[in-house]
Amino acid sequence: MDRQHVSPRVSALRPYSPGKPIEDVKRELGITGDIVKLASNENPLGPCPASIKAVQERMLSTHMYPDAACIDLANVIASKLNVSTDQLLFGNGSDECIHLLGLTFLDEGDEVVTGQPTFVLYEAAATLAGAKRIGVPLTDGDLRHDAESMVRAFTDKTRLVIIANPHNPTGSIITKSDVDHILENLPSRAYLVLDEAYVDYIDPESDFPFAIDYIKAGKPVIGLRTFSKMYGLAGFRVGYAVAATDVIASMQKPRSPFNVNILAQTAAIAASNDDTFVDASKTVNADGMAQLTLGAETLGMSVVPSHANFILIDTKRPCRDVYELLLRDGVIVRTGDIFGLPTMLRVTIGTQAQNEKFLNALTSAAAKVQPVCG
Ligand SMILES: Cc1ncc(COP(=O)(O)O)c(C=O)c1O
Repeated sequence: MDRQHVSPRVSALRPYSPGKPIEDVKRELGITGDIVKLASNENPLGPCPASIKAVQERMLSTHMYPDAACIDLANVIASKLNVSTDQLLFGNGSDECIHLLGLTFLDEGDEVVTGQPTFVLYEAAATLAGAKRIGVPLTDGDLRHDAESMVRAFTDKTRLVIIANPHNPTGSIITKSDVDHILENLPSRAYLVLDEAYVDYIDPESDFPFAIDYIKAGKPVIGLRTFSKMYGLAGFRVGYAVAATDVIASMQKPRSPFNVNILAQTAAIAASNDDTFVDASKTVNADGMAQLTLGAETLGMSVVPSHANFILIDTKRPCRDVYELLLRDGVIVRTGDIFGLPTMLRVTIGTQAQNEKFLNALTSAAAKVQPVCG
């Protein structure tokens, strides 16, 4: 074996491709004006103001290691969710929690059942562990998880079933009865992971299958949440897993001790108490969703009903061509082809002005790119 030998599990990984950075677009296309990035489902209002204030004060403590157990943050979240602190594990973004799920529960030959398309990191977690991801196609048309087909994909090798709810890239949600059906048929070695990165956009009083309710009922469910979306803290990198204490105790073992830095912990604590920012973010999102839906439908395009802070628009045209023209007009979105949806764009809901800039660019792109037949 030579020195350059790389583990086959690492060789098999597909590099993550993030939304195109604003600076790259400026450099590559020579754009000097404003660029709007609606590609990574970030909060268009910016970071939660209470977090910024708290972080500025906390800067003077950054010569010290952070609290390895995130205990102040854990206390805040535990009292919000009415769980104990040892039911929580904090990660460098919920990305890290997904990675820890793979490290903790997956082995060579195990299987991870997900929707197809889905959030790309589930595949990485499986591959790194030598496990296999089984992607079950979403339903035709409304692009929802197909619980019945997922159940049919279960085998005695199934270890994790991962469902983003609301889902990325579609914004669709899975119903309570579908979650119940999956749990009734879950193989005895498996956990159902409900990735709730976008759950803060859901009405807490609605009939939504919140992971926390299943966990409290003793079901084999692991919930994932993040401060990256509603709280506008994507750059700080804080997410968490919530589950039964024995599940969390196992996931703590491979975690590196100081994985959530001191400023990130401070920012997340402050954001958890800033209801004003959350209310404003919800309003901007609901208004923007209506604005983008109307704008796209006026152009003869269709949208997939979304419960998150982004929307899938079927442009009925090759999405790469539309995307390139949008870039030239200073708007960055995500193309659907990376998800196997070749005429779709995934667009983050922006402010009123950002959405308007996007819709103007979409109108001019639609006039230049021929619709596909059928
Ligand atoms: C479904 C889903 N899960 C997890 C994440 C990761 O979020 P974080 O920023 O907390 O790592 C994302 C980010 O886009 C996501 O869409």
